Amino acid sequence: MKEQLLKLKEEALNQLKECSGNADIEKIRVQYLGKKGELTLILRSMGSLSEEERPEMGKLANEVRAVIEEEIKAIKEEITAKENQKNAKSEIIDITMPGRIPEIGRRHPLIQVKEELESVFMRMGYDVVSGPEIDTVGNNFDDLNAPYDHPSRDRSDTFYVSDDLVLRTQTSPMQIRVMKEGKLPIRMVSTGRTFRFDDVDDTHSPMFHQMECLVVDKGVTLANLKDSIDQFVKELFGSNMKTRFRPHNFPFTEPSAEVDVSCHACMGEGCPTCHGTGWSMELLGCGMVHPNVLRNCGIDPEIYSGYAFGMGIDRVTMVKYGIPNIRLLFENDVRFLKQF
Ligand code: PHE
Repeated sequence: MKEQLLKLKEEALNQLKECSGNADIEKIRVQYLGKKGELTLILRSMGSLSEEERPEMGKLANEVRAVIEEEIKAIKEEITAKENQKNAKSEIIDITMPGRIPEIGRRHPLIQVKEELESVFMRMGYDVVSGPEIDTVGNNFDDLNAPYDHPSRDRSDTFYVSDDLVLRTQTSPMQIRVMKEGKLPIRMVSTGRTFRFDDVDDTHSPMFHQMECLVVDKGVTLANLKDSIDQFVKELFGSNMKTRFRPHNFPFTEPSAEVDVSCHACMGEGCPTCHGTGWSMELLGCGMVHPNVLRNCGIDPEIYSGYAFGMGIDRVTMVKYGIPNIRLLFENDVRFLKQF
């Protein structure tokens, strides 16, 4: 019996060495250790042994069973490890590979300046309103007191959509729209696109942007206009910026002025950018609302007065960032836009 047991052990271990999967191992386990397995059969025949032999054989049989069970466990572990390795190889994830960085866009410099302007005025208590890019000849010219022979009405200067509709040449028709709403007092700004029949050069584009400002109340004076403009120029460009008012003419304001600010490049010292003058020209046009305009909108100029100004946002953006050519703002070259 001893030989039988040792032989069985050897055979089982040899078979286990050759098996390659869990199914094989299970077959071997049943073959040797199962209820009808070979080891069990040998144990069953122990009855025929002598009293002295029996414990010895019993011990040996248990040892054989333990050895086989251990080997099964070891081989199972080995197979599992191999499978894991195989899986790891087939689904490699390289955790050192750099991720994909999503391209995040940014606001166009013009829009940044427009929003900054709006928020400066909002902080000063103004309403921000918006209106259509196509407006009536009435709002764009007639009610703004433009004489019928004013050159800006010419078809060579203005894009007419029909006889009485134009691509607005300025944001000033927003003055008319807001005043005709009839709510007083008024403190509003309005930004948007404007259009003129201009050839493109370094400082002109047929489509550009303006911001309109209108204040109408009792007792509004030229001093208020000067002070507001001064205050917001300092807020926008810095407190060492100076303003200069030059007399000008607009049909819808009286008196009227154009405003220059200190040259951004030299802060007023005089440099090639400002041709030695120290001033950056024509930031905005302004004036006291003409009594005819107030009357056109049903407001009594004996009781109410107001001021207005209109400013080129493109110009402000160029001054603020030192951009020499307006085309850069509309070419959408990402290398340029990325700088803001
Ligand atoms: N609308 C004028 C322009 O486009 C600017 C302006 C606005 C002037 C309001 C005075 C008052 O040049």
